[in-house]
Amino acid sequence: MVQLVLPNDANTMGNVLGGRVLHWIDLAAAIVAHRHCRTEAVTASMDQVSFHAPIRVGQLAVITARMTFVGRTSMEIRVDVQSEDLLSGAREQTSTAYLTFVAVDAKGRPVAVPPLRFETKEEQKEARAAEARRAGRLQGRPDLVAR
Ligand SMILES: CC(C)(COP(=O)(O)OP(=O)(O)OC[C@H]1O[C@@H](n2cnc3c(N)ncnc32)[C@H](O)[C@@H]1OP(=O)(O)O)[C@@H](O)C(=O)NCCC(=O)NCCS
Repeated sequence: MVQLVLPNDANTMGNVLGGRVLHWIDLAAAIVAHRHCRTEAVTASMDQVSFHAPIRVGQLAVITARMTFVGRTSMEIRVDVQSEDLLSGAREQTSTAYLTFVAVDAKGRPVAVPPLRFETKEEQKEARAAEARRAGRLQGRPDLVAR
């Protein structure tokens, strides 16, 4: 997903607002989740997100989202955000976020999602790391960790 950063997206220094970037991250991840499960899906959590570099008015925000892991009803999606300078084409990584979406039926009850096929070593590595991230997220809900 590509967004042109306009003045209305920015703070008084001309840098994109963090909340706007979070919205784009949520949207990109939601599209990936919906395309995978083809049911309704809701955001269950968004892991800590840092903003490593500003994205300036007039630059592009390039948002790339891909699924990294699926549980029974939940899906983890990794979202990378880069700035792109329209004149030079230079790109800079600004944020990485992991989100969990849960597939739900019309009444909002969790429903099973299709499995995910890992085709590369990188994808397999990411899925292994996802197990640890999932355990961290569900601290305080041992009923869910054990599933
Ligand atoms: C997400 C939601 C459907 C989960 O409902 P729940 O009653 O906790 O469901 P369950 O206990 O059966 O858990 C379902 C799945 O969600 C996962 N889950 C629940 N809470 C989670 C959290 N905080 N972070 C990550 N995953 C979570 C569980 O691990 C489980 O995954 P699995 O089936 O792959 O093992 C429910 O909390 C909800 O509707 N939240 C509001 C969603 C929303 O409105 N989002 C928009 C932003 S406000």
